[in-house]
Amino acid sequence: MRKHIVAGNWKMNNNLSKTENLLNELKKQTKSSDAEVMVAPTFVNLSHAFKTLKQTDIEAVAQNMHFAENGAYTGEISADMLKSIGINTVILGHSERRAYYNETDASLAKKIDAALANNMRSIFCFGEELADRKSGNQETIVASQIKNALFHLKADAFTNIVLAYEPVWAIGTGETASPEQAQEMHAFIRQLLSDKYGDAVANSVSILYGGSVKPNNAREIFSKPDVDGGLIGGASLKAEDFYAIVNAF
Ligand code: G3H
Repeated sequence: MRKHIVAGNWKMNNNLSKTENLLNELKKQTKSSDAEVMVAPTFVNLSHAFKTLKQTDIEAVAQNMHFAENGAYTGEISADMLKSIGINTVILGHSERRAYYNETDASLAKKIDAALANNMRSIFCFGEELADRKSGNQETIVASQIKNALFHLKADAFTNIVLAYEPVWAIGTGETASPEQAQEMHAFIRQLLSDKYGDAVANSVSILYGGSVKPNNAREIFSKPDVDGGLIGGASLKAEDFYAIVNAF
């Protein structure tokens, strides 16, 4: 049985007092599903979030990290630093990181390796742009993103990898991939994993969908057999909305 996961990516939102408010609201919510719940606040509030959520079943996770262990990388954060404040999971390769900070499959492969070397779980994000979808190239693009960043790994590494399919055209736009489009891509991804690593690995990896998931569409998307959860942006900034999605399984 694969894990269901719902992760809230707060992106560059919420100063300290807003973070405290949202964390307090999250603590009041009731979970009625089997989903693992994660939230990813901005780095400056991550340690605070970790401490606040320590006695709960919500995991604080990081939005990004550098691949080097330490050194002259001004403004960057290492896996060792995250581990030292209790963080065990990191989102890698979000489309905003790829688009605005030049993250490439090659640099992401190094980040994945750094996370694994530090015994951290990665939520590896990928997805096609609108032009790729319009030209029917979405599977080619997604396959190359996955192969280039992950296929140097040994099979056992996948116990620490979660995949997040996020079509760029659906992020923050209000336009969601249809449940059928999500299922079609997730099944394609699982087949890709199976071809390389076999069914046991393919069937054990959780594949999340991200892109305008809201309380009113989560249940239908999560009902698809290869959709194991969601990476939620905008709707994760309100505790009630986020938990409506968490409880949509
Ligand atoms: O990381 C989350 C995704 O970018 C989805 O964001 O739910 O605001 O579309 P969104």
